[in-house]
Amino acid sequence: AKVHHHDFVVQETKIKRLCMAHNRITVNGMFPGPTLEVRNGDTLVVNVMNRGQYNVTIHWHGIRQLRTGWADGPEFVTQCPIRPGGSYTYRFTIQGQEGTLWWHAHSSWLRATVYGALIIHPQEGSHYPFIKPKRDAPILLGEWWNSNPIHVLREATRTGAAPNVSDAYTINGQPGDLYNCSSKDTVIIPVDSGETNLLRVINAALNQELFFTIANHKMTVVGADASYLKPFTTSVIVLGPGQTTDVLITADQPPARYYIAARAYNSAQGAPFDNTTTTAILEYKSAPCPAKKGFSIPPVSPSLPAYNDTNTATTFATSFRSRTKVEVPTDIDENLFFTVGLGLFNCPPKARARNCQGPNGTRFGASMNNESFVLPSNFSLLQASQQGIPGVFTTDFPAVPPVQFNYTGNVSRTLWQPVKGTKLYKLKYGSRVQLVLQGTSIFTAENHPIHLHGYDFYIIAQGFGNFNSKTDTSKFNLVDPPLRNTVGVPVNGWAVIRFIADNPGVWLMHCHLDVHLNWGLAMAFLVENGVGELQSIEPPPADYPIC
Ligand code: C2O
Repeated sequence: AKVHHHDFVVQETKIKRLCMAHNRITVNGMFPGPTLEVRNGDTLVVNVMNRGQYNVTIHWHGIRQLRTGWADGPEFVTQCPIRPGGSYTYRFTIQGQEGTLWWHAHSSWLRATVYGALIIHPQEGSHYPFIKPKRDAPILLGEWWNSNPIHVLREATRTGAAPNVSDAYTINGQPGDLYNCSSKDTVIIPVDSGETNLLRVINAALNQELFFTIANHKMTVVGADASYLKPFTTSVIVLGPGQTTDVLITADQPPARYYIAARAYNSAQGAPFDNTTTTAILEYKSAPCPAKKGFSIPPVSPSLPAYNDTNTATTFATSFRSRTKVEVPTDIDENLFFTVGLGLFNCPPKARARNCQGPNGTRFGASMNNESFVLPSNFSLLQASQQGIPGVFTTDFPAVPPVQFNYTGNVSRTLWQPVKGTKLYKLKYGSRVQLVLQGTSIFTAENHPIHLHGYDFYIIAQGFGNFNSKTDTSKFNLVDPPLRNTVGVPVNGWAVIRFIADNPGVWLMHCHLDVHLNWGLAMAFLVENGVGELQSIEPPPADYPIC
């Protein structure tokens, strides 16, 4: 196994998109940031130097961080931010994960431009459990704002209203042919006729689930979130922010140029969203030359599902199976039931005009089990828990909802007024956890991509309506459920996950739609140390940032 050293210089960089130049924060002046390539078993050492003007942290999305929770990255959860002028070295080992993950800033909305792919090749001496691809390419789907995303978030936080939607989607940082001033920079993926390539598709968008397709080509899904899957074939894939999907595509069509395209899957009825389409081009090297002497053959166009096509999204999500039989924990120690959804905060009449521009003079909020998560500002939760610093958090996060009702019905929001707090749920080392994630329809029902830090979990079932603990257990797949780090809780529905709490530390669980996270759709698990060194978190590194 190797140790890979990298320097990440976080800095302001001029980026030209949609006919204008903007200053944005990048890593090493690159947008998207550098692709990291390692093998399962290798160690990454990344020295992050903050030369920009904002606080920053970097999260290694999906990396298990076994006993190295100090390197996980979410601001105020596992570390205080790296201040301008400061630095911090993240050091961790990849253990038992192969496929595609990614890294991103975990502070404000910096991840709009601070992100990149993290590719994990099979362990030294082993191979993919599928045909060896000729080439492999990361496909990072993103979202672009003409305004500084940090200002977009600040403005939304000040007014209590929903933030502006983005101005474009991007593939590897480029909006593509269908946007103004963008077509000359459209990303081209070259292929040779007959060869099979691996595309590593990553949804790095801030606030949007996306459909992804390639004109006239079928995709064979072979992995997701750095776990192998039983291969299946599809013409469209769906990704929530945070999720990755590895697909094989064979160049088996007449030599030409074909559009690769992504656009919104918007499960929230009536909510505004960016309805544009980003494209790249799959170009057969033997295709007739595109644009000589003003003569051009437009690329073959794809067909994408309608923005509200929940059927397509559900069919796709329920096709996932682990490649082999797996060991799902059966005897459960912790049977948890968390609601996930939006809510609204009432405002005192005086504040109303300026700070309460949400629906009917409210402020937008979101919660799990009615708890709207607030980050501390003086210590990280991990430091406070390890050093016994009082007053930073409590451990009374409820195991079940405090009020029970028809979660997916047409109910009044007065039943479910979120309460702000910093509550953790404590898990004993090694406990076997089942967690029902129940979507709610308070204010707006929509699909919530829920991401758990520090763990992969089995998704053993999902469905619509209210989870029924008597009848829905018949839907549990305990044989070959997929292992993931982000689960799409279906709009007006539920999902059930299981994992073993074998990684001590503080682990954030949140909706990966960033605006929902900012509204409080998060909680954190505090997993206690077990016995002995191998079941305990390592001591913090010497340069660990404090507040
Ligand atoms: Cu991909 Cu908490 O993040």
